[in-house]
Amino acid sequence: MEYAVSSDALKGKVILVTGAGAGIGKQAALSYAEHGATVILLGRTVKKLEQTYDEIEAAGYPQPAIIPLDMKGATKQNYLDMVDTIEGQFGRLDGVLHNASLLGVISPFDQIGEDTYDDIMQVNVKAQFLMTQAVLPLLHKSEDARIIFTSSTVGHSGRAFWGTYAMSKFATEGMMQILADELSDTNIRVNAINPGGTRTAMRAKAYPAEDAELLKTPLDIMPLYLYLMSPESKSVNGECIDAQPK
Ligand SMILES: NC(=O)c1ccc[n+]([C@@H]2O[C@H](COP(=O)([O-])OP(=O)(O)OC[C@H]3O[C@@H](n4cnc5c(N)ncnc54)[C@H](OP(=O)(O)O)[C@@H]3O)[C@@H](O)[C@H]2O)c1
Repeated sequence: MEYAVSSDALKGKVILVTGAGAGIGKQAALSYAEHGATVILLGRTVKKLEQTYDEIEAAGYPQPAIIPLDMKGATKQNYLDMVDTIEGQFGRLDGVLHNASLLGVISPFDQIGEDTYDDIMQVNVKAQFLMTQAVLPLLHKSEDARIIFTSSTVGHSGRAFWGTYAMSKFATEGMMQILADELSDTNIRVNAINPGGTRTAMRAKAYPAEDAELLKTPLDIMPLYLYLMSPESKSVNGECIDAQPK
């Protein structure tokens, strides 16, 4: 399916993107800003967030904001404070792209360390749960809000050696479905994207031997990211959509 949105589809909207300093999250922040959104760049490495910020500013898109936060150590209070900052600075929030996540190590199930398990579940699941609880009151005030989670092919079909990462993506899809059902009568639409193999650092870590030039780039898969964040997707709820359907 071809996804098309107008060039000002996100004008006036305030959108939070996690993991906005690299890979798909960086491109999504740039693309949302290009389509008129004020983008809040959240991530753990300030230098990378500043690069995204500078690119958005240099392009003349709406001035973004940076929220440095390591989702591994962040507490519920950190997310509540984050929402206070957003409300104080912008007075609104219209969308969240839950993009940041950890891959961990591709390994046999019996070799998954407890620390690795905890870190991945913390960043990929619990942090998104806490952040979503914190932002919901603000999203309810928006006339048309979106929450987009990020899954994976191994988030709906288990595969050997993908361990905790795959389990975390199953949990992500579950969280998305529960929220979408609960919020179906509200102004908030909740969906997930499976990016498919995309040329980023995470993909290179998972498949070190492949030719990355053969992969789609983050820019290639942006039409779906834009569509699900825009008013055009008002009737879509509770779906996990492949950005690169077979
Ligand atoms: N690339 C693919 O082929 C592919 C396929 C399926 C699904 N996905 C999913 O797509 C999403 C984006 O992946 P990607 O390939 O763009 O990955 P990436 O290049 O590794 O980028 C991940 C981003 O998440 C941030 N992040 C990691 N841990 C964090 C933490 N504790 N706190 C805050 N931010 C943190 C990273 O920050 P730093 O830059 O500071 O490390 C980085 O900006 C992920 O959810 C991934 O699971 C990707």
